[in-house]
Amino acid sequence: MNKKLKIGLFGFGCVGQGLYHVLNNSTGFKADIVKIAVIDKTKTRRVESTLITYNKWEILDNSEIDVVVELIDDADEAFLIVSEALKRGKHVVTANKKMLAQHLEELYHLQNEYNVSLLYEASACGSIPIIRTLEEYFDNEELKKVTGIFNGTTNYILTRTLAENLSYQEALSQAQLKGFAESNPVNDVEGFDPKFKAIIIALHAFGLIIKPNEVLNIGITTLHESDIKYANEKGYKIKLTPHIHRIAHNKVSVFVVPSFIKSHNHLYNVDNEFNGVIVEGDFSGEQFFQGKGAGSYPTGAAVLSDISALSHGYKYEFKKFAQNQIPKFTNDVILEVYFRYNSPEDLRHLQFEEITEKYNGNDFHYVIGKIHLEQLFEYREYILTNHLFISLLNERVELSNDGNRKTVFKKELQIF
Ligand SMILES: NC(=O)c1ccc[n+]([C@@H]2O[C@H](COP(=O)([O-])OP(=O)(O)OC[C@H]3O[C@@H](n4cnc5c(N)ncnc54)[C@H](OP(=O)(O)O)[C@@H]3O)[C@@H](O)[C@H]2O)c1
Repeated sequence: MNKKLKIGLFGFGCVGQGLYHVLNNSTGFKADIVKIAVIDKTKTRRVESTLITYNKWEILDNSEIDVVVELIDDADEAFLIVSEALKRGKHVVTANKKMLAQHLEELYHLQNEYNVSLLYEASACGSIPIIRTLEEYFDNEELKKVTGIFNGTTNYILTRTLAENLSYQEALSQAQLKGFAESNPVNDVEGFDPKFKAIIIALHAFGLIIKPNEVLNIGITTLHESDIKYANEKGYKIKLTPHIHRIAHNKVSVFVVPSFIKSHNHLYNVDNEFNGVIVEGDFSGEQFFQGKGAGSYPTGAAVLSDISALSHGYKYEFKKFAQNQIPKFTNDVILEVYFRYNSPEDLRHLQFEEITEKYNGNDFHYVIGKIHLEQLFEYREYILTNHLFISLLNERVELSNDGNRKTVFKKELQIF
């Protein structure tokens, strides 16, 4: 391609304005934003009014525009915009992880069918270039795992709880005041946002296309002072961690849970709003990436990098997906966890395979043991509504002894 691209931009909020700034201050790369679609006619915009439109077709039907950059906050409308753009032969750059995680398969087929490129580096971990790294650098090597901290809001909250002895609620309020958490934080604190990112990453790391309701996410909303005290006493930090683990040779497990992290783990020092990603390959060993997972300029910079890649004709080849030995997605795994509960009834509900430690204080009860991931899936709502807390220990994920045990239960999770 290598020509000056003409961009139609959807959304002029945090990331849209970040892109506008980063693009205007980029010395090496030039592209023109020729139209910006938004919805609210009462807002004042810091751009020429002739650039603004409230009609999406002014961009989609404009044959001059070669690239649609989709940066809106509505996943359903984003899917319509992105698929219409691809069908009209326009390349697309998006940061919308929820839309991508829900529609990866359709979008993969659309960009192939219409021979256009769909890039989305900014959708997973902001300015950390994890998707292109997996796609280009780890295209052949088999990976053991990808894990990390994919959500800055929860990392900020968890960091403040431990560092300042704040309760979960106090730390959440602080995060909201500082602009690190939205007024409705459910997407972040219940672990949906890192789950969407894990689903996108699982495609590029292992060639898997998984639906969001197949992947367990347990967030941090039930974190209690006693869990924080326990973690502090044992020298752990608490992080919300997505896990994309190859188990045995041909199975991959994906889930999001809080984890107790020891000081030798790279993630231990990834604090506040920062993100971190660990990629472990069969031969290369462990690689660690740290950076800003969100924010106007870091995310804008990731979007600009995709636009620049487009100008050189870049396209994801989905190399792991194209290989004919894609591993199977499984929830048939056993995790080692810390589980804080309220009453013996809680323990009767969640059947542990093995319990190695049990503590029964006056108002603090916990066990350490091994539990099947499907048990956590089945009792997710029970755990949340009864304010119980679960945290992965030692990053221990093993294939269940039952080997090929069928998924006995797959609960539909409501997607936020
Ligand atoms: N914020 C981050 O740090 C970050 C990081 C990574 C990825 N992302 C992703 O980037 C996307 C944008 O996030 P954001 O934080 O920039 O959101 P935001 O600040 O809430 O801005 C959303 C923008 O989208 C516009 N919009 C909403 N619906 C629209 C529609 N149907 N047609 C045209 N414009 C529409 C809004 O228009 P009005 O201005 O008229 O209201 C607004 O300008 C989301 O998918 C988000 O998940 C964000």
